[in-house]
Parts: sequence; structure tokens; C-alpha cells
Amino acid sequence: MEQKDQISQTSVGEIPKVGSESIKTADLKSTKITAGVQEVHSQEIFSEFREHSVAEFFKKNRQMLGFSGKVRSLTTLVHEYVTNSLDACEEAKILPNIYVKIDNLPNGHIRLYVEDNGPGIPKQFIGRALGQMLAGTKFHRFVQQRGQQGIGATGGTMYAQITTGKPIHCRSSTGDNIIYECDVAVDLKTNSPKISNMVEYTGKYRGLTIIGEFGEVKYDKSEYSAFEYLKATALANPHAQITIVDPEGERTVFQRAHEEVPERPKPAQPHPLGVTTDDLINYAHHSKERKLSSFLTSNFARVSDSKVEELKKLCPSINFDKMPRELKWEEAEAIVRAFKQIKWIAPSADPLRPIGKEQIEKALKNVLQPEFVSVSERSPKVFRGGVPFLVEVGIAYKGKAGRQKSDGTVGLDVKRFANRAPLLFDAGGCATMEAVKTIDWGRYGLKDIENMPVTLFMNLVSVHVPYTSAGKQAISNEEEIVEEFRYAIMEVARDLDRYLSGKIRDEQREARKKAIMRYVKQISSDLPYLAGEKTSEELEKKLLHIIESKYSKMFDKGRLTADEEKQIKKEIEEDIEE
Ligand SMILES: Nc1ncnc2c1ncn2[C@@H]1O[C@H](COP(=O)(O)OP(=O)(O)O)[C@@H](O)[C@H]1O
Ligand SMILES: [Mg+2]
Repeated sequence: MEQKDQISQTSVGEIPKVGSESIKTADLKSTKITAGVQEVHSQEIFSEFREHSVAEFFKKNRQMLGFSGKVRSLTTLVHEYVTNSLDACEEAKILPNIYVKIDNLPNGHIRLYVEDNGPGIPKQFIGRALGQMLAGTKFHRFVQQRGQQGIGATGGTMYAQITTGKPIHCRSSTGDNIIYECDVAVDLKTNSPKISNMVEYTGKYRGLTIIGEFGEVKYDKSEYSAFEYLKATALANPHAQITIVDPEGERTVFQRAHEEVPERPKPAQPHPLGVTTDDLINYAHHSKERKLSSFLTSNFARVSDSKVEELKKLCPSINFDKMPRELKWEEAEAIVRAFKQIKWIAPSADPLRPIGKEQIEKALKNVLQPEFVSVSERSPKVFRGGVPFLVEVGIAYKGKAGRQKSDGTVGLDVKRFANRAPLLFDAGGCATMEAVKTIDWGRYGLKDIENMPVTLFMNLVSVHVPYTSAGKQAISNEEEIVEEFRYAIMEVARDLDRYLSGKIRDEQREARKKAIMRYVKQISSDLPYLAGEKTSEELEKKLLHIIESKYSKMFDKGRLTADEEKQIKKEIEEDIEE
């Protein structure tokens, strides 16, 4: 109470308007002295008031973009450039061929070279693509791609600048035999691009090449390294050929396992149940439609004229004939509220582009050479009421599956992906791990899963991936997403359980068969004495026949029930007795 009084005392009075030049030091000093402490006037505090650009913000908060720790920072750079290449190739319907080279420079910096065979960037866009944040071809579209925000490439340019003072060098061509090369930097104060040293020449190349020198980065082969990142990328992108040449000159090629270009991602319209007031205002204020009603029907999925009529009834005070750009916040809020009261058909899953069961199986076999693989692809669902998604989960057992632990043993390895882009960091807060954690592995005979040579492959497919941060390394714990991942894991866990128990039973049978075979020879030579007239060869043949026919029956059938097994055992015993 006391404090409130003081505030009102100092704030009422002759305070000049913000921006007025008549603020005198004397005015500022005239603030009250309370309990011997001189208060500071808000005018003095606000003399420090400044605007900042998004680029300045990310310079200060670079960890939000994944630039924290030397190894992780290099992985982030590789991730940003490689996802851009994959997105661009997918959109242009080109089979990606990506070449990454990492060199240690004598000054302690690293030179990173990323070349793709994609569509390239037209000259007039290169500055904004690589030197302006929140600019790109993806942010404003509701389309399933790896990039979403228009920050990644410029984040790389920023990181080069703030760690080496150098711009990024790039080479690009859109396939018209004209190649251009230039340096791109970002003016962090204004978030605007600076292009220099532009040259143009003719030659045969199509795609984009980025060459950057970076400080505060390090290359190693740890599980968080650029190398592991590319290996995981190859797993989720069997249609891509990815080459990495490390600082030692060692070249690794992740071969393309599949020759088909994935289907081009299709833009989707947002569903009314997935829209926030802020989204609605933004869309409306940028709309070219003349009426609010036609803006709604043409921009949102499942909004028909009859649904607009329903909206009109729920929001009687809103004029649906007015220009969408005149939509006020309170009105948008009312519309979003009304959206929630109307019955909608779920959004179409048409724009979703899963990797596919067959492809995942192929990729897991190709990279891990496992003894057993099973993949589950769930049908599409929605989260936040209106964003369609689906999950794909694969399980691989033995071969190169599993993660090498620090004590030298192998344990469960969870490979997480969002729209085929690997997520290497921040596993703790990710929807995928939340699902893994809550599985009762004991139910599937996999109680010891943490110590088994198992790789779990998990991919979220969505036109909007709810990342927990701009670094795009963890999927937020949306209830529906966690639930779907759980179901998918349970399906593949059940398959692995069946395989393993079948295998154990087969092994036990094989052992029993071997034990009996050991005696066949012995018995065969002894029996003529007992039987008298038959030769040992004839007897051996007959005995072998008995065992083969009965036991093969078991192998052919694979998994027998306990009763069937008992029955066959009985038959064998009877045969032998005979
Ligand atoms: N390798 C590439 N080939 C073609 N276009 C690219 C490539 N890399 C980046 N771009 C263009 O630059 C834009 C900005 O990239 P980026 O900052 O990573 O944002 P985002 O990927 O989130 O859109 C992309 O939207 C795309 O239009
Ligand atoms: Mg990107």
C-alpha cells in the first residue's frame, strides 16, 4: 500500500512527454528520497529505450539458434545448410547430392563447405536468403518442410561474422549456365543483407554452394557431431546421397538407397481449430480479399459458406462484409472463440509426406544391417485441434543397431527426427523421449531395453512441427503427439517381442534336435543287434527321417502353441519307441 502511494505521488506532476527535449537534469533529480535512498525517475530509465532488430536479438541469444558449445555449433551449421539443400531439392524434384567438407585452418577456425545440386537461388534473392532473418520461401506457407522460420541460413552468416569478422561466400546458379559468386553479410543493427564482391561467369553448375569460415566450432566424431548428424540424415533421407570429407581428409559417402524423389510437399491451409487470434489478425491484415467472409472461406481449410453463416450467428456484432484488413483484435478473438464452438471436419492429411514403411525398412537395413526390423506408420491425427500430423516408428535389432555406451557395452539408441531432419540435442524435453519413457517395456519382454542392441527410429511428420525453441532440436510435449508415438512404439515392440520369443523357442528346439541327433548314430549301430534283420544304414535313414520330418514341421510352422509342441513331442517319442 505504502509503495503504491509513493508511485502515485511521483507520477502526478509536471512530467514532460516522452520525446520532449525539455527534460532537465533538475527534473530528474527532483525525485523523492525514501528512507535515505534516492529513487530513479522513469525518464532517466527510459532515456536508454532502444529498438532492436531480430538479428541483434539472436546475436545476443545465439544459444537459441543452437550455437552453444563448439561441437554443437558446427553441427548446427551443417544442419542448417543441409536441411536447406534437402528442402530445396525436394521442392524442385531433384535427387539430392550433397557434399560437405570440413577443414581445420591454421588460425584455429574451421572452413565449412556445403555444396548441393538443388535449384539454386536467383541472384536477386541471395542477399535476403543468406543475410536477412525471418526471410525465405517457407515461413508464410503452411507446408511440410524442414525449415520453417527463415532464420537458419542467416544464422550461419551471423555466426561467421561474430566469430571471425568475415562474411559468407556463396556460389549459385539456377541452371542457366550463368554462375554467380559473392560474399554476403548481415547488418545486425538493421537485419538487412550486405552483398559484396559479386562476380558472374558461365559454366556448368546448378545448385548452391556455401563456403564459410567459423570460429568457436570444433569437429569430432562424438554422438553430437556433424558426422553423426549426417549419418542420421542419411537414415531418414534414403533418396539423398551425402558425402562428408573430414579435416583428416577421410571421405565417407552415405549412399543413396532409393532412387525416387519424394513427392513435392503440398501447401496446406490452416484449419480453424489450429488458429490463434494473432494468426488470424496476421492473415487478415495481409489478405487481398475484399470481404471478411470470402477471406475466411478462401484461407482456411473446411470453412464453407454455410460455416460462415454459423459464424455470423455466433458473432452477431461482426460485419462479415468488411475488408479483412479492418479486422480488430477483439473481433478476431471472438471469431477464434466461435471457431471452437462449431463442429468441423478434421483437416485433410493430404499435405503430409511420410517417409513410408518400406523406405524406413530399407534405410534401417542399409545403414544398420540388423537381424530384425519392424516399422509402424500410424494414420494421420491432429494436435492443437487443427494441425495434422502422423508418426513413423521403426525398430532395428542387432547388427549395427544400438548405441555404444561409455563402458563399451551397447544399449538402446533413439534416433529422433522431425520431417526427416535429425534431432540430436535437447532429448530431455522432447515428445519422442516422453513417449519412450512411459512404455512398460517389461510387457514386451524387453525389460532390459536400455542394455539391448536396439535402435528406435522416430519421425514426426507435420506441416507445423511444434519445436520447443528456434534451435529446432526438440518437439514440444503435445499430448496427441506423445500418445501417437506411444502406440507406434508399442506396435514395433510387440513385433520384436514376437521375433525374440520365436527365436528363443527355435533355438531350444534346435538344441533338442542336436541332442537327439547325437544318439542317432550310436543307436543305429546298436539296433541291428537288437532288431536282428535290418542293416544299420537302413535304420539310421529311418531314424533320421523320423527326426527331420517331425522337427522340420516345427520349424516350418514357426511358432507353435504349447499344446502343439507337446503333441509333436509325444509323436516323436512314440516313433522312437516303435
Ligand atoms: N540450398 C538452398 N537452395 C535453394 N534455396 C535455398 C537454399 N538455402 C536457402 N535457400 C532459400 O533461403 C531461404 C532462407 O533459408 P533459411 O534462413 O534457412 O530459412 P528457412 O529454411 O527456415 O526458410 C529459404 O527459405 C530458401 O528460400
Ligand atoms: Mg533453413
